[in-house]
Amino acid sequence: MATNRTFTMIKPDAVEKNAIGGILKMINDAGFRIVAMKYTQLSKETAGEFYEVHKERPFYGELVDYMSSGPIVAAILEKDNAVEDFRTLIGATNPAEAAEGTIRKIYATDISANAVHGSDSDENAEIEGDFHFTPAEKH
Ligand code: CMP
Repeated sequence: MATNRTFTMIKPDAVEKNAIGGILKMINDAGFRIVAMKYTQLSKETAGEFYEVHKERPFYGELVDYMSSGPIVAAILEKDNAVEDFRTLIGATNPAEAAEGTIRKIYATDISANAVHGSDSDENAEIEGDFHFTPAEKH
């Protein structure tokens, strides 16, 4: 059910740090089921499109350059209350403000290279999941 799904990306900084396994373990241990997952690299064009909602922000160019700078892991996750529970698991956008034990506190470098993305609403979770996966890829 769409309301029980969220979308995540393990970002280039976390992939570079060999943190994919650690982050997926935290995700599984928190009770999320992986519905779809792929290891890929975004082009500048694709990253720009994904983050189009931030186009007017001063950090947009930096964000697009960074998100296309190396491989990522994109995934759709399922759990009751998925969007909110996943945002609790990953912690604040700025890792300096992230709670102890959260993914960003453990793995993020800074507000730009912040280890993981998590959808901010059920509606965006569906849009973002559909951006990366076809219906046949969602199991
Ligand atoms: P994410 O959850 O992927 O969604 C938008 C991203 O923009 C966010 O994570 C941050 O990595 C990035 N971001 C937000 N605010 C800033 C900022 N002030 N400077 C640089 N990047 C930012």
